[in-house]
Amino acid sequence: MKTVGILNGPNLDRLGHREPEIYGKQSLADLEALLKQEAQALKVELLFFQSNHEGELIDTLNRWSQQKLSGIILNPAAYTHTSVALYDAVAASSVPVVEVHISNIYAREPFRQKSLTAPAAKALVSGMGFEGYCAALRFLVNKKS
Ligand code: DQA
Repeated sequence: MKTVGILNGPNLDRLGHREPEIYGKQSLADLEALLKQEAQALKVELLFFQSNHEGELIDTLNRWSQQKLSGIILNPAAYTHTSVALYDAVAASSVPVVEVHISNIYAREPFRQKSLTAPAAKALVSGMGFEGYCAALRFLVNKKS
């Protein structure tokens, strides 16, 4: 069975409370429940991790890469716009990484309109809400190589 890792960055543990007009009223637990449903239909196993700490995100990404997962869905949150270290980890990953953003970062403040990490990712989904994670999961599971 294929395994895909879902890696969420800082403040995404506050989903449902944090700026609901931008990120919606649903929680991280709701997102994980939605993805579990999707995973059942796709017959894929999921691993979940959220952290507010850059190094923990990098450690997890590196570990999942070494474990040869079928793919990683990464929402680096604010580290998208600041972290060369996370870019390096994505670039070094031997498994495909899809970067996902709940909001459309290109329609927001200028400082959010640049993703440092996306150039190292296989694909980028931005602005589709939680559905973006489901789309990324389907892409990774159906991918040929
Ligand atoms: C985000 C967009 C980032 O700019 C922001 O810092 C986040 C969430 C998104 O999912 O839309 O925390 O990654």
